[in-house]
Amino acid sequence: MAAEHPAYPVGLRLTGRRTVVLGGGQVAQRRLPALIAAGADITLISPSATPSVEAMADAGELTWHRRTYADGDLAEAWYALIATSDPTANAAASAEAERHRVWCVRSDDADAATAWTPATGHSEGVTVAVLTTEAKGRDPRRTAAIRDAVVAGLRDGTLVAPHHRTRTPGVALVGGGPGDPDLITVRGRRLLAEADVVIADRLGPRDLLNELPPHVEVIDAAKIPYGRFMAQEAINNALIEHAKQGKSVVRLKGGDPFVFGRGMEEAQALAEAGIPCTVVPGISSSISVPGAAGIPVTHRGVAHEFTVVSGHVAPDDERSLVDWAALARLRGTLVILMGVDKIGRIAETLTAHGKPGDTPVALVQEGTTAAQRRVDATLATVAEAVRSHEVRPPAVIVIGEVAGMNPAPPA
Ligand SMILES: C[S@@+](CC[C@H](N)C(=O)[O-])C[C@H]1O[C@@H](n2cnc3c(N)ncnc32)[C@H](O)[C@@H]1O
Repeated sequence: MAAEHPAYPVGLRLTGRRTVVLGGGQVAQRRLPALIAAGADITLISPSATPSVEAMADAGELTWHRRTYADGDLAEAWYALIATSDPTANAAASAEAERHRVWCVRSDDADAATAWTPATGHSEGVTVAVLTTEAKGRDPRRTAAIRDAVVAGLRDGTLVAPHHRTRTPGVALVGGGPGDPDLITVRGRRLLAEADVVIADRLGPRDLLNELPPHVEVIDAAKIPYGRFMAQEAINNALIEHAKQGKSVVRLKGGDPFVFGRGMEEAQALAEAGIPCTVVPGISSSISVPGAAGIPVTHRGVAHEFTVVSGHVAPDDERSLVDWAALARLRGTLVILMGVDKIGRIAETLTAHGKPGDTPVALVQEGTTAAQRRVDATLATVAEAVRSHEVRPPAVIVIGEVAGMNPAPPA
């Protein structure tokens, strides 16, 4: 029977209700997780099953009868998924479904089915379900593409549904990643799109700020006047003041908020002021910037550890908390952030404590942005390389054998 009318969309509440699945192949494998998530009381009838379906049965998520379909299997069912590889069995089962008035989906013949499975996706408590209007016009790839577009838009905030959105109260400390706007997390991007106020650092995905709607107040953290306060205190105060006005505030930081990002100081100040705070992790430059320049921070048989160190104070500075002598003894990779100014003193100290002068060093400036560049040196030559190549912050410095690796396999 050709479907001349559009299907009537509905959400089935299958919790505890008998649901019969015929066939344990790829179709069942794809559909079963949603039925399990819905709490359906699932009976699978199939002589065989894929390893994933078998695992669901082993885990007690469904009851599996290892046999072919027999008339009467759909009795008492609320819903049936007919997906065996035998068209005759499928036809017999859907005839039984019709007789018993059980809504049934057929994987082999949408026209003969009494129900269709929409392409579904979820975002923040909403299920998006996309159905083609008629059996003849069914185009599963298109419905899946529409579902993907809607879900992706809701997740990353490019599709804004402001009226019914539950806004995140307080402040979100969002790790923005190393700079490329594509390298922020989906959650970070969504919170950014929902924000009333964004307080941003110099590092991180600045390009994303241009995409924000005009009503969003964007504040450059470096330009907050701090008068009698320290700069960080002034930022904390600004976060608190805006949040107290009931605004959704995003503190957008470079990389990850808790990797040399002073994120915990902000979280503590907000907690003291009684303001809710969520932390959204970000991709730290310490891993991603070397990676963007083709340097793996670990490699099998070469480096079994990597250590991320701040180089903002020189090794002989009394404020330094770093045990450079111990680092010189490690075989793995050393990743130094904020170390461009002090790299000469750092290299001397590492060498003095036994790290060979010919250890490879790579400096990656403005990684993941259009201005990214890489300068290669050794511990012995790095100070001069920084001067002659005019390496400037922000840069990540990688010290260790991995900095000398080439992606081309050995000839
Ligand atoms: C205050 S730290 C913040 C680190 C950040 N929280 C993270 O997880 O990447 C700033 C330092 O991170 C490094 N850095 C951040 N983004 C970078 C980028 N795109 N390219 C090179 N270095 C970067 C530089 O060493 C810079 O001096």
